[in-house]
Amino acid sequence: MNTKAPLLEVEGLHVAYGKAEVVHGVDLQVQAGEFVVLLGRNGAGKSTILHAVSGLIPKRAGRVRFGGRDVSQSSPRDIVRAGLVQVLEGHRVFGTLTVEDNLAIGTYASARRSDAAQLERMYDLFPELAARRYLPASKLSGGQQQILAVAQGVIASPKLLILDEPSSGLAPLVVDRILAVAAELCAGGMAVLLVEQLVEKALRHAHRCCLIETGRIVAEGSAQELRGSDVLERVYLGSHTAA
Ligand SMILES: Nc1ncnc2c1ncn2[C@@H]1O[C@H](COP(=O)(O)OP(=O)(O)OP(=O)(O)O)[C@@H](O)[C@H]1O
Ligand SMILES: [Mg+2]
Repeated sequence: MNTKAPLLEVEGLHVAYGKAEVVHGVDLQVQAGEFVVLLGRNGAGKSTILHAVSGLIPKRAGRVRFGGRDVSQSSPRDIVRAGLVQVLEGHRVFGTLTVEDNLAIGTYASARRSDAAQLERMYDLFPELAARRYLPASKLSGGQQQILAVAQGVIASPKLLILDEPSSGLAPLVVDRILAVAAELCAGGMAVLLVEQLVEKALRHAHRCCLIETGRIVAEGSAQELRGSDVLERVYLGSHTAA
């Protein structure tokens, strides 16, 4: 039993778009160095939870603590500076900028300045970026752009990296690679909160999983516990997500 205060602690989170509430009281914790996966069907509210945690959309109610500090009312910029970085769904990189300039943007988010050592660390982790550092990002394949988006998040050495469906639209090998790098960084002490539709791939790396259904956490446990549970089958019944 881990008795340390969690790195991320979400309590009683409610989020609405206009009058329509889509997240109905979510409690979620991530410990330092932990790999947590959020699973759930399309529209379950996974991205909404992540956006609210990162301060990108308002919360109707609830509290978010990060690194022992209440960040419920903090700006996205302050949350990033506290060490919580989210890689958004889709390959959001700046196509006209070079790979290296895109990476440099990632360092602006951190309190630290961009320096050569940070860039070299990314090129060691992601050799496919090293080979293309002076190319405009638009010349990269979809998979390479997603790797760049992840590197852009990782370069600031966050305490918690949030990845929202990094696999979407990518070849299985690229997905494996992104998840393996996330797991490796996690072993080095960074916590990961991952939303993923490829259930089996995500469970392979997870220390803990939370199952979301229509804005609520309906089950939580280790990968092994969830694999054997009826609730996982129920949530994904009829969907083509196992891989
Ligand atoms: N900007 C928005 N305005 C209004 N409703 C929204 C908005 N974004 C999401 N929703 C609705 O909120 C609910 C939760 O959406 P959300 O994007 O959080 O789900 P998700 O679990 O991330 O789904 P997916 O797996 O498709 O990414 C859905 O019913 C969705 O239609
Ligand atoms: Mg989503």
